[in-house]
Amino acid sequence: MAKQFDVVVIGGGPAGYVAAIRAGQLGLSVACAESNPYADPKGEPRLGGTCLNVGCIPSKALLQSSENYHLLHDGFAQHGITVSGAKIDISTMVGRKNKIVDQFTGGIKGLFRKYKVTFIPGHGKFVAAGGAGWKLDIGGEAVEAKHVIVATGSRSRPLPGVPVDNETIVDNVGALDFKAVPKKLGIIGSGVIGLELGSVWKRLGAEVTILEALPTFLGACDESVAKEAWKVFTAKQGLDIKLGCKIGEVKKGKSGVSIAYEQDGKATTLDCDKLIVSIGRIPNTDGLAADAVGLKLDARGFIEVDGHCRTTLPNVYAVGDVVRGPMLAHKAMEEGVMVSEIIAGQAGHVNLDTVPWVIYTSPEIAWVGKTEQQLKAEGVAYRTGQIPFMANGRAMGMGDTTGFVKMIADAKTDRILGVHIIAAHASELISEAVVAMEFSASSEDLARIVHAHPTLSEVIHEAALAVDKRSLHF
Ligand code: NAI
Repeated sequence: MAKQFDVVVIGGGPAGYVAAIRAGQLGLSVACAESNPYADPKGEPRLGGTCLNVGCIPSKALLQSSENYHLLHDGFAQHGITVSGAKIDISTMVGRKNKIVDQFTGGIKGLFRKYKVTFIPGHGKFVAAGGAGWKLDIGGEAVEAKHVIVATGSRSRPLPGVPVDNETIVDNVGALDFKAVPKKLGIIGSGVIGLELGSVWKRLGAEVTILEALPTFLGACDESVAKEAWKVFTAKQGLDIKLGCKIGEVKKGKSGVSIAYEQDGKATTLDCDKLIVSIGRIPNTDGLAADAVGLKLDARGFIEVDGHCRTTLPNVYAVGDVVRGPMLAHKAMEEGVMVSEIIAGQAGHVNLDTVPWVIYTSPEIAWVGKTEQQLKAEGVAYRTGQIPFMANGRAMGMGDTTGFVKMIADAKTDRILGVHIIAAHASELISEAVVAMEFSASSEDLARIVHAHPTLSEVIHEAALAVDKRSLHF
């Protein structure tokens, strides 16, 4: 007889494993299926999905290692600290990253035991409606579930004619495992992955050229942040970012790759040792047998869901990268929590308007809410306050005063509509803005909150004051 569960989660990434843990906490019988190729020492697929295995966590480990190396060479001299003969050992750096991945992915299996989640290794797919509610097949095993949560994530968008071998031409997976610093690194796509991984290998000494199709840089960011980022990444850090490129033939040779491209109507070739392709991600719905049960996908291939992640099928939910909205682990996790709470009869909810974005470059870029250009297009009247970190004592002491905080508030109600930060630790600083916006705070509210001195967070305080043209230290 088929195993029966209240909930079966297909996919053990941030959306899926969190949904399973929350369902277990709420007393539901729950199983989670996972079939990725990132085997643990027992030969089982690891939990944690792209984020833990080949995304957020390993990339942050390498970003920190490379930033430390860079500071040793270029950042500490201003403090009177000089070091000679500093070297980087790539296998130790990558080994440290792998250990972190091992620890966290293994940790989720421990959490599954704690919250009584049954882990079923294997590919999950729909078979038919019936049984307890839905009949599924997980790696050849028949399973029945009253509720199904699809959390199958996303994968790198392939570029036609550019086959990824994860040796010479790599995606986010291969780019985390180079054995040596490439002399010349090419990157197609100047989005989040291109900039983060480009920064890692640039700091370690690679000559990095990024080819971007669009004529604008970081189009999703507030324009003032994108402008500042462009200045820092190109002029200060030496990333060679070429906009408006049309990629032509990509040839792989014995010692590297040759990329023919056109920019401003001029045909050129880029020769490099390694090439990262980072042109976005696409949802994973192959092999789910969505058609067999009539699970509806939207025009872009995402599973169609409503505001509470309900699909077009009864008691079937979909969460994370496989549905609309930003492909961000924190958004995915909260959707997982929401859906399990709804299944348990509670009132789960996720506010997509206050999901923070972060790009872990140096300086980091983080924002929440609307950009100035979005508000202009929507015809909303607003006021802005912008304060540079140059005016902040803590930033000065740290020796890193790059960037600013820009706050945008509604001209009539003063409600905060967006906060945009480019600076060291922007990823941490943005949380204050998220909380403020979640509670519908005004810039006046933030201006009246006591911020510890000296801290970087004072720049948020000053930006709030600046909305009313009364900043005190700038
Ligand atoms: P992305 O959407 O951020 O950037 C892709 C870039 O490639 C865009 O600028 C696009 O215009 C460009 N592009 C597309 N086709 C091209 C072509 N044929 N030639 C040249 N350029 C082309 O996608 P990315 O960087 O691959 O990241 C994928 C997703 O992963 C992101 O949407 C993000 O949500 C997530 N992610 C988030 C991170 C974070 O939160 N810090 C870190 C890494 C990834």
